[in-house]
Amino acid sequence: MPGPGRIVTSVEDLREIARRHVPRMFYDYVDTGSWTGATYRRNEADLAGIQFRQRVAVDISQRSTESRMLGEAVTMPVALAPTGLCGMQHADGEILSARAAERFGVPFTLSTVSICSIEDVAAATSRPFWFQLYMLRDRDFMERLIGRARAAGCSALVLTLDLQIQGQRHKDLKNGITVPPRLTLPNLLDLMTKPRWCLGMLATRRRSFGNIIGHVANVGDLTSLSHWVAAQFDPTLCWDDIAWIKERWPGKLVVKGIMDAEDARRAVERGADAVIVSNHGGRQLDSAPSTIAVLPEIVEAVGHRTEVHLDSGIRSGQDAFRALALGARAVHIGRAYQYGLGAFGEAGVTRCLELIRKELDHTMAFCGVTRVEDIGPAQLYRPRAGE
Ligand code: FNR
Repeated sequence: MPGPGRIVTSVEDLREIARRHVPRMFYDYVDTGSWTGATYRRNEADLAGIQFRQRVAVDISQRSTESRMLGEAVTMPVALAPTGLCGMQHADGEILSARAAERFGVPFTLSTVSICSIEDVAAATSRPFWFQLYMLRDRDFMERLIGRARAAGCSALVLTLDLQIQGQRHKDLKNGITVPPRLTLPNLLDLMTKPRWCLGMLATRRRSFGNIIGHVANVGDLTSLSHWVAAQFDPTLCWDDIAWIKERWPGKLVVKGIMDAEDARRAVERGADAVIVSNHGGRQLDSAPSTIAVLPEIVEAVGHRTEVHLDSGIRSGQDAFRALALGARAVHIGRAYQYGLGAFGEAGVTRCLELIRKELDHTMAFCGVTRVEDIGPAQLYRPRAGE
């Protein structure tokens, strides 16, 4: 198996390798949007449509992608977004991703519905990671879960607000995705063509939801992910619940899933230290706008009071630059690193981060910028009307 350094020149390469290695239903779980997939595609297309203004004859010899996120020093303003069931792409996926992020010097966010538990990831890393919270109906369990994140030394809690119900993802329905996987004949045939993945999975003992095991009596009963979400996730979640969370979580609070300026103001009024402009990577409300399209109005509404981050559609350092230029303080990547994980495990996540940093650095250089804080709208090219 060739190492990622030799053959991988873009996140798209990682995606293609992951597509070949990872069993189809698990690859599809990552590479899908909801309903028609319009928002999923729009996130990428709108970013790609933003052009740069090339500048020349600037001394760019001393450049740095270093920055800060929530007060933490980072080697670039890019975090790994929470992705549920990360361990389906590669055995111990959450641990490998957290390690890659730690070595690279960027934040890792562990999902509530991860396969490795908070304690597994804490034991395998030394840099504090961020923990993402889905609000389940059982408040006693939520209280214990927040307590576990505190005990593990997590440095931020990311509250996801856009998944009170789950957006319908057609590929998952058609593949019959279940937890644990049900072995139908097509699944079995597909698995037989992916021996490296199967051996990796057999070598690990972690096959269940690490954070919620014990809450769900028998994880083997979780036949359908969407049914489980419908039964457990709290549809009554509203702004007042943030006070309940803050009573139990004294640390940094990030509110994720913001697509509207008024919602951003509400999050900030309730004490959010950062908001993440996110449409869940186009996995929830289909035909929502892209995140890059709504970013400016949200930055205008709350950018002077809080950090505004963005995710959804970031596939390169150039995309990160585009978001920073339009006012984001930082970006988060979901699928980009999932592809790296599925392709090569920890080395693939590292490769993804290396690619993004290099692309960000080179774009800064071509646009005549040497520091992340100097990236702004002046580096974007806006065609005149009619061009
Ligand atoms: C996600 N996302 C997500 N968000 C969250 O708050 N908790 C979660 O458990 C998950 N799970 C999850 C699984 C997978 C496979 C994907 C692709 C995404 C959403 C994620 O945090 C982020 O918002 C998007 O991934 C960003 O879009 P891109 O970068 O994937 O285009």
